[in-house]
Amino acid sequence: MTAVDTRTVAVCEAGLLLPGRGVAALLPDGRQVAIFRTEGGELYGLSNIDPFARAAVLSRGLVGETGGVPFVASPLLKQRFDLRTGVCLDDESVVIRSYPVHVVDGMVHVTP
Ligand code: FES
Repeated sequence: MTAVDTRTVAVCEAGLLLPGRGVAALLPDGRQVAIFRTEGGELYGLSNIDPFARAAVLSRGLVGETGGVPFVASPLLKQRFDLRTGVCLDDESVVIRSYPVHVVDGMVHVTP
């Protein structure tokens, strides 16, 4: 088992994450993270803020894959963001923050 890095934040139970869906979580400093589980079971964390719509909605976006790249599409203006890097696939000049995510003892941990 991996040692728990004290800089990580436990944000939710891993069982709450359904394949292809996201959940939003609040970090202690007030930032919002959207956490996603892909159909293949991988977990990713991105900023929950859609930079185009300036709204905290990405956790409610659709998760998909294009050419091997897992993405979430914003529910508002539909821009897609690479779940691994936060790069916008429709406008690569836009990058949102990505957060390392992993599961420890059934809890999802985010590295802020
Ligand atoms: S960094 Fe390994 S358990 Fe959090």
